Amino acid sequence: MKLLYAVAALAVVAISGPAFAGSAEDIIAKEKCNKCHTATTTKKAPSWASVAEKYKGNAAAPDKLFNELKNGGKIGDEDDHKKVVASDADIKAIVQIVLSSK
Ligand code: HEC
Repeated sequence: MKLLYAVAALAVVAISGPAFAGSAEDIIAKEKCNKCHTATTTKKAPSWASVAEKYKGNAAAPDKLFNELKNGGKIGDEDDHKKVVASDADIKAIVQIVLSSK
């Protein structure tokens, strides 16, 4: 019986684990976006707030940023941007964080 409980407990951990990992905030931290970006100050790269400002009122912005982050490739005149390796849902969530920064 004890073994059964142990197995059940393990199953719960296995199922609930991914729900905690992989939030957009975690991905931003894990992918070290903060090396070049911060929420409000311009370092090597524009702050999230300035990106949000740039795309304010642009209905196409979420799709555009989603594609840029998913596929990497050129953004503006700079070198190729880092690809974000994450699920589509997570990338969308990252875009939301960026576009809602101020
Ligand atoms: C090695 C430095 C570096 C890292 C790491 C980095 N970026 Fe960037 N990012 C840049 C630079 C530089 C630009 C500006 C390019 C330009 O505007 O020409 C940029 C631009 C952007 C933009 C604006 C795109 C646009 O169309 O204006 C977004 C959104 C963005 N990055 C998201 C991210 C996310 C999310 C991560 C982490 C997964 C990340 N970046 C990691 C350097 C970096």
